[in-house]
Amino acid sequence: MKNIDKLSIEKAYLLFDSKEIDNFEVGTLKGLQQIHKFLFDGLYDFAGEIRTLNISKGNFRFANSLYLKEILDKIETMNENTFEEIIAKYVEMNIAHPFMEGNGRTMRIWLDMMLKKNLKKVVNWQFIDKELYLQSMERSPINDLELRFLLSANLTDKVDDREVIFKGIEQSYYYEGYVVEK
Ligand SMILES: Nc1ncnc2c1ncn2[C@@H]1O[C@H](COP(=O)(O)OP(=O)(O)O)[C@@H](O)[C@H]1O
Ligand SMILES: [Mg+2]
Repeated sequence: MKNIDKLSIEKAYLLFDSKEIDNFEVGTLKGLQQIHKFLFDGLYDFAGEIRTLNISKGNFRFANSLYLKEILDKIETMNENTFEEIIAKYVEMNIAHPFMEGNGRTMRIWLDMMLKKNLKKVVNWQFIDKELYLQSMERSPINDLELRFLLSANLTDKVDDREVIFKGIEQSYYYEGYVVEK
């Protein structure tokens, strides 16, 4: 598990350093799959593939795999013109949780690409506390107020700043239990 994360975070750095991320679709299911495929290619045999099994975390059951494709098609049509719309779309995608593993890390990049394209901003993840973030994600299927509050207070217009991007990637992997060795 730890080794996979270590190899995956190197791929995440490469995704931005190579500028391959700029070739991916923004705000679509295909774009999300492109990110997942890039991060986990050769590490998970389901890299970029939609799950066919049901999964849950804590007490929350993510979308039933039988209806997942229909749900994902609907999410893709959601608007992304305002901060509120983008967060709503992100929350719905989290409820769908299309992959067996790697949803959190993939979706945070997907979210940033929507914010960058439409608002010329990204989330400054390095300043967002792990516990507060994960609590707000757990809460988000019922109410996304906490999540909006947390993220809106930590947006930056330094969208191409390497330090912002790389520290953001490290924080994203830290949320999922991986700590970079220095
Ligand atoms: N109880 C929950 N309800 C809703 N979303 C959750 C819950 N617990 C975790 N999450 C979200 O799921 C993500 C983890 O999903 P996962 O597929 O394991 O991604 P990764 O492998 O990148 O960690 C977290 O970052 C969080 O956003
Ligand atoms: Mg995980």
